[in-house]
Amino acid sequence: MTNAFHLENKIALITGGASGIGAATVREFSRAGAHVLIADLNLAAAQSLAAELPNAKAVAMDVTDSSSIATAFKDIPTLDILVNCAGVGLVGDITRTSEEDFSRVMRVNVNSIFLVTQAAFPLLLASRGSIVNIGSVAGSVGVKQRFAYCASKGAVQAMTRQIAVDYPKELRINCVAPGTVQTPFVEGYLDKYHAHEKEKVRSELVARQPIGRLGTPEDIASLARYLCSAEAEFINGAVIPIDGGWTAA
Ligand SMILES: NC(=O)c1ccc[n+]([C@@H]2O[C@H](COP(=O)([O-])OP(=O)(O)OC[C@H]3O[C@@H](n4cnc5c(N)ncnc54)[C@H](O)[C@@H]3O)[C@@H](O)[C@H]2O)c1
Repeated sequence: MTNAFHLENKIALITGGASGIGAATVREFSRAGAHVLIADLNLAAAQSLAAELPNAKAVAMDVTDSSSIATAFKDIPTLDILVNCAGVGLVGDITRTSEEDFSRVMRVNVNSIFLVTQAAFPLLLASRGSIVNIGSVAGSVGVKQRFAYCASKGAVQAMTRQIAVDYPKELRINCVAPGTVQTPFVEGYLDKYHAHEKEKVRSELVARQPIGRLGTPEDIASLARYLCSAEAEFINGAVIPIDGGWTAA
């Protein structure tokens, strides 16, 4: 047994922690010994996940709403780790993207990181904490029919690097950039846009990842755990692909 990558006595807040990658990260951090705050719009799902774990608590939070964020942070006296995971997708090239949809994607994927990180910042400075932003390959390469999503995930990478430059000794901040991961986010996309050809499109999603499978939420959670551990002390301002080789091509 190794004691590597432990997060004992760390307090971690994970946005979007009720589902998919966020929920896997909640479980992984809990296994690593952290106390986990599951911050999500879907309070019922956050509560039922918290009830399964020895050291987790649900927190109602709309990451697009600064007053909801402020209310949540009133009850959080200390914080060591912030994982900004809440996010939404949108299908469409530039001609099929409405102003309203573009704004919504930017609010959930970009403004949220600004607002939640700003609210958490004094606590993270006090603890010399660690932030992990969940980006996407869509921030590194163009993905067909993902105009707004690519724009938003590019901004996630830029915010990560910028904060690392301003606060190089005070805290650490990194971004993970997953390829396609099997979560309700992807199932929802298949149901909405490809209900009659789900398996065909699923195999196309697999085919663009040279490893030959979709990622699992646990793949991403393990990397997030590593990045928040003492072993990752020298990693700061990095954007780390985790995509089965997609962006190596
Ligand atoms: N699944 C993938 O293929 C994939 C790939 C790359 C990046 N990502 C990114 O990973 C993150 C998580 O994706 P997932 O696949 O686990 O999605 P998911 O849909 O399974 O989970 C997203 C969670 O975010 C919460 N959420 C949404 N809007 C919110 C808001 N305004 N306030 C608070 N919580 C909110 C939802 O309630 C849900 O619990 C997203 O940022 C997504 O862009 C996903």
